[in-house]
Amino acid sequence: MARITTSVLKDKKNRKERISMLTAYDYSLAGMVDEAGIDMILVGDSLGMVVLGYENTLAVTMDEMIHHSKTVVRASKNAMVVGDMPFLSYHISKKEAVRNAGRFIQEAGCQAVKLEGGSERVDTVKAILDAQIPVMGHIGLTPQSVHQFGGFKVQGKDLETAKKLVDDAKALDQAGVYCIVLECVPSELARRVTEEVSVPTIGIGAGPHCDGQVLVINDMLGMFQGHIPKFVRKFANLEPLIMEALKNYKAEVEAGTFPAEEHCFTIKEEVLDRLY
Ligand code: KIV
Repeated sequence: MARITTSVLKDKKNRKERISMLTAYDYSLAGMVDEAGIDMILVGDSLGMVVLGYENTLAVTMDEMIHHSKTVVRASKNAMVVGDMPFLSYHISKKEAVRNAGRFIQEAGCQAVKLEGGSERVDTVKAILDAQIPVMGHIGLTPQSVHQFGGFKVQGKDLETAKKLVDDAKALDQAGVYCIVLECVPSELARRVTEEVSVPTIGIGAGPHCDGQVLVINDMLGMFQGHIPKFVRKFANLEPLIMEALKNYKAEVEAGTFPAEEHCFTIKEEVLDRLY
């Protein structure tokens, strides 16, 4: 099976088939996400919070993103792998944006990149598209703007910001993005945006009317001990299971019951006898 392409995703929207996306950052989980048949794997800059332990996504660097993106590409065969452009990798100039987007494709082997922002990013999006790199947009609560927003808050609740969201989505659509993430916006507003644009919308905290959904994998597997947003459903609660396994391991090591015979390798008596 070949990897999912942008045209497969567009066909899904037209046929009203929902699109699935999850984040992943490492070989084991990315392999499982791919095997489960998820359409897209986002190597999100949420890496900074759920894997690297930063307070927000702003500290994440291009080198960190490339390192993890390479791993996810190696682990997957079918999903489209999307590299998330970190803070300052596309803000300084179009030239730097194209070079950094190109690193995701050339060094890491991703099939697309994602960047945050609406109308103000149209020129940057077009420059990256000129380099033949598919771009996913991301509007609503864009975590790289956390200081400007004054926290992680729902966006587009009043007329002015709701209108800006619709305008931003249309501007990105016209610029040529293949997909738009809508984060933390009211469900009915996400429905309007989804109807207004020609490309698929992927919601996170944006209700059921988007063309697809995305979640941060550590949140939905119940593996992240920090703040879990209201929009997350824990499809599993692995943290207590992992804690139990770790405590059992410690207890068995201390009691000398692990390793048991079946975990050990043997050597012939005669070899041992001739050792000294
Ligand atoms: O970095 C990330 O995980 C994201 C998703 C929340 C869309 O941008």
